[in-house]
Amino acid sequence: MDLADIIRDLGALETSTLAAISAAPDTPALDGIDVEVLGKKGALTGILRGIGALAADDRPRVGAVANTVRGAIEAALAARRAELGAAELTERLARERIDVTLPGRPLRRGSLHPSIEAMTQIAEIFEQFGFVVHESPEIEDDLTNFQMLNIPPDHPARDLWDTLYVDIPGHLLRTHTSPGQIRVMQAMKPPIRALLPGRCFRYESVDASHGFEFFQVEGLMVDEGVTLADMKGLLDEFARAMFGDGKKTRFRPGYYPFTEPSVAFDVECLVCGGPGCPACGRSGWMTILGAGMVHPVVLQYGGLDPERYQGFAFGMGPERISMLKHGITDLRLFMENDVRFLEPFR
Ligand code: PHE
Repeated sequence: MDLADIIRDLGALETSTLAAISAAPDTPALDGIDVEVLGKKGALTGILRGIGALAADDRPRVGAVANTVRGAIEAALAARRAELGAAELTERLARERIDVTLPGRPLRRGSLHPSIEAMTQIAEIFEQFGFVVHESPEIEDDLTNFQMLNIPPDHPARDLWDTLYVDIPGHLLRTHTSPGQIRVMQAMKPPIRALLPGRCFRYESVDASHGFEFFQVEGLMVDEGVTLADMKGLLDEFARAMFGDGKKTRFRPGYYPFTEPSVAFDVECLVCGGPGCPACGRSGWMTILGAGMVHPVVLQYGGLDPERYQGFAFGMGPERISMLKHGITDLRLFMENDVRFLEPFR
């Protein structure tokens, strides 16, 4: 290789590289040319390797030509890079343009489960009457779930609460929230106005009106001089707040071992309003809760003197309340979690 060859090769490299640069379709192609020609192991370095064989006087000339070639290629790369960069940016801006007129994606909001919705409503009403929500365990002992509620081991009323037992001796899944009455009385002194919402369990075969797992809301009011009239007034107010003004209500005699007297509390049928229909068993009435004056024995187990204190208690099923309000005819819907059922509750 002599001086002329090298100069010619440099010229050829410049020509072909400039052509490749102006033909490059995008910036990655330019990056490729940059490395292939100007890189450490690139074509320009390859040609300059021949410089060692030249006479010392010729070397600066080759160096000057090589610098000119490098400068021309670098300038062409920069110019083409700017050109392509602008085009790519314009193209990206067009492609990524946001159509602000498109409707937004709807946000799917969750909703309260109808059992919880009903319990919340019940609690909100009684909170206005000064009741305070308390908690009581789901795994109870036989003593508190039954015996202290005036239901001794062989009492026939046990049949009302078919029981699921757990493998801790003397313990069971509470069959109602009434044992919470005992726990509240043992924990605090009157005046007591307690509300006990919670899950209950019974050994039942499941059908449209029975579940083995359901909620109850228990209420307990104890003070000096509390009467049945106080209970009637309060429950009437509750029915008004829950089912609307002007609904007729009635109290019927009932039976629970832990209240005396005991009552069932009915509201006029929400479907037919009185004359009778299939929804109310043609009676014109719907039963919404059981209640009564706390039995003296129960007050005693709660640590209170029945000569000094009186009280009333009531217990209701929020699912039942919800069924009556919304015309739902199958209790199982509350346990199945089918969104077609749950969705309308917002
Ligand atoms: N615990 C009763 C039941 O499960 C309901 C009730 C509560 C009745 C309080 C009277 C007083 O059916």
